[in-house]
Amino acid sequence: MEDIERKLGSWALDLEREIERTRPRSRELFEKARKVLPGGVTYHIRFYRPYPLYIAKGRGSKVTDVDGFEYVDMWMGHGALILGHNPEPLIKAMEEAKEVGTHLGYANQYAVEYAELLTKVLPNADMVRFCNSGTEANMYALRLARAYTGRKYVIKMEGGWHGGYDALHVGVSYPYRGPESAGLPEEYISLTLVVPYNDIDALEKALREHEVAAVVLEPVLGAGGCIGPREGYLKEVIEVAHSYGALVVFDEVITGFRLALGGAQEYFNVKPDIVVLGKIVGGGVAGAGAFAARSEIMELLDNIKHPDARKRPFHGGTFTGNPLTILAGMNMVRYLASHRELYDKLDEITRVLMNGVEKACRDHDVECFTTGARGMVGIHFTRSRPLNVRQAHEERWSNAIYRALHKFAILDGYLYMTESNAHLLPSMVHSEEEAKGFVDMFYRFVEEVKKLI
Ligand SMILES: Cc1ncc(COP(=O)(O)O)c(C=O)c1O
Repeated sequence: MEDIERKLGSWALDLEREIERTRPRSRELFEKARKVLPGGVTYHIRFYRPYPLYIAKGRGSKVTDVDGFEYVDMWMGHGALILGHNPEPLIKAMEEAKEVGTHLGYANQYAVEYAELLTKVLPNADMVRFCNSGTEANMYALRLARAYTGRKYVIKMEGGWHGGYDALHVGVSYPYRGPESAGLPEEYISLTLVVPYNDIDALEKALREHEVAAVVLEPVLGAGGCIGPREGYLKEVIEVAHSYGALVVFDEVITGFRLALGGAQEYFNVKPDIVVLGKIVGGGVAGAGAFAARSEIMELLDNIKHPDARKRPFHGGTFTGNPLTILAGMNMVRYLASHRELYDKLDEITRVLMNGVEKACRDHDVECFTTGARGMVGIHFTRSRPLNVRQAHEERWSNAIYRALHKFAILDGYLYMTESNAHLLPSMVHSEEEAKGFVDMFYRFVEEVKKLI
């Protein structure tokens, strides 16, 4: 084992040297960036070794770095760009916003229209509120759930990622306990319980032992490695949570509009109480976030019905409902609604990627499994197909192989995140050839791995 890890690690280093040799402009920018941006990046997950490639532009399914190399982008703006870089609906929105103004700071008709549209396409949602990010949307959704139930505790899943909000910033990485950040006191997470995904007994135990306001989960774990629910799991989560008087919040920041127009609710035919949106809901523009639910829950936010601010869960923000984000999101969702066939295309791309990667491993007798759902693919070099992040972590037979794959892909013209957890978020504008190209690259990668181990 140690020998395999050493060989794969040293191969990853060779690949990194090749990246350094061929991409000097990115290195220069990295050196400059380190002086003015901590870690040289605007978000630590964008760092990878030997240094991040600085991207000069994106078009359709591809991005180009500052050294002029083009890549098929399998990360797609953290999954926000379901129609690729700079799609038509977004360009149109930017033009409309030029006329309307990018930020009005008053109630405006665009937010009303978009809320109407969202309540039509999202199951089980009569009302919506817009936020500025997925993190914010989760924060306000949880506050709403606490206000609605009058309870304090929240349950989240091991490896579940909901952004950097204190109460949910726990149990993200191994060993899935304790604050996930410096500067986050234990007291701030003392009302958060963490259970394994796909484990209904653990969930029920936590519900039995505490007065829980909400179970917050990604219907398909995203950052945790694109791991989907076992048959019937989501339905069981809702039933058991309701039987203990807790609400269920689906964090659909990744799955929303991706698994289906109506997100995981439509794809898995289940109805949580609150749905949290981000990324695609903003149509590719910053400030993407929203939460939605039945009016019975959302009306708690109604300042006319509940004029006393202390009896109303707070939600708001300077840029909420700004026309630029609203128009971009609305154009995007309208486009998706009138091009439903694109979901079949995304299915096909997902299938090509998942089947191709697994076949490559089988053909070379290398242990590897894919997980995911439409538009979400996790690649796991594990002893078995993981059902949750703990298994994905504990059953890994190598860490260095993830790093080597990431570099091998870069040198072959494919970019994805991250170097320690391979997950792909293809868009609807990726071609089948591009998906097959990824598989072909992966095939050659596994061939090389086989020579080494
Ligand atoms: C499932 C999920 N929830 C919440 C967030 C946080 O969203 P944002 O980065 O917009 O704050 C993310 C971001 O990656 C996410 O994947």
